[in-house]
Amino acid sequence: MVSLTSAPPFWLRDNCPCPDCRDPRNGQKLFQITDLPAALAVAAVHDTRTADGAPAREVVWAPDRHRSLYPETWLAAHLPGAPAAPGDGRTEDDKELWAASRFDGGLPEADWDAYTTDPNVRAAALDSVLRLGFVLLRGVPVRDRQVLDVARTFGHVRETNYGELFEVRVEADPNNLAFTGARITPHTDNPYRDPVPTLQLLHCLTNAAQGGDSGLVDGFHAAALLRAQDPEAYETLTRVPAPFAFADERTELRAHRPLIGIDPAGRIREIRFNNRSIGTLRLPADRLDAFYAAYRRFGDLLLRPELQLDFRLTPGDCLIFDNTRLLHARTAFAESGDRHLQGAYADIDGLASTLAVLRREESAK
Ligand code: OGA
Ligand code: ZN
Ligand code: ZN
Repeated sequence: MVSLTSAPPFWLRDNCPCPDCRDPRNGQKLFQITDLPAALAVAAVHDTRTADGAPAREVVWAPDRHRSLYPETWLAAHLPGAPAAPGDGRTEDDKELWAASRFDGGLPEADWDAYTTDPNVRAAALDSVLRLGFVLLRGVPVRDRQVLDVARTFGHVRETNYGELFEVRVEADPNNLAFTGARITPHTDNPYRDPVPTLQLLHCLTNAAQGGDSGLVDGFHAAALLRAQDPEAYETLTRVPAPFAFADERTELRAHRPLIGIDPAGRIREIRFNNRSIGTLRLPADRLDAFYAAYRRFGDLLLRPELQLDFRLTPGDCLIFDNTRLLHARTAFAESGDRHLQGAYADIDGLASTLAVLRREESAK
């Protein structure tokens, strides 16, 4: 049986599950941390059972005589020293990092009809976005605005200044190089937005042009390689905020963020990389030199052929990917040819929620 002596009193009391402390209808906490007595202490502990007969411990608190009942299983899973706490699902620890050869046996993909009708297929596809950073849906109806319906199968569309969706096709007066036939090197989208859209969808309606093949690079993997090969460069890219900006007639956006975002434990959590929209850094000369050396190192890694997964979108394909992890690219294409994608942004918390609920429903069956 686990001991309660190691449990910090404020932590233990903050997790009291009683109906005075948590609303039984929704589990939400009913008190403020400042409501707890400053001299809070465990007065007594008794072995007991929960209402449904499971082993539990009752804690009597001083000085307010409050009583808390903790199931033994909850204590075993949560007390300090219990097996490691799960991560938040967003850092390198919760991902499968990859190089292109990981997909020699095929891409993570799902057929649209199966995806929409079979919860297991849907769960596997969404899991692939969280774990590998992407999934390719095949056989999606080739219909105007269909990309929005795809986003709504797992979450909410993030509308931006580009609209609910954006058209990726050659335009006469493009406000973005994406809307020309130019090659686009690996990048994340909209690094000038805060918060950045965490998911991107690209739905292929037509791809009859010469060229215009797609590429994906695992930015977490590239950042981990940089950390191993050049720790100083890595450190620089986690620390120096880069000024990203976008402006056209109606819009002016900016966000200052490092190219490699890490969590408080130092784990890779977010990549921003876009040569088209990085602005002018304003720093002392020696720090500019260090930044540019590191930026070039990282840029070299991101262009390594073995890291880039190459494929071609065909009409009816819809690529869904983590825009905070994967970089996407396309080869140049002949502007005389017909190529039209519709893109949209959405967010990964909604996708993770949809997957969690799907799994809950499956395990309840
Ligand atoms: C974009 C983009 C890729 C493509 O629109 O942001 O990267 O395949 N497009 O055209
Ligand atoms: Zn309580
Ligand atoms: Zn893009």
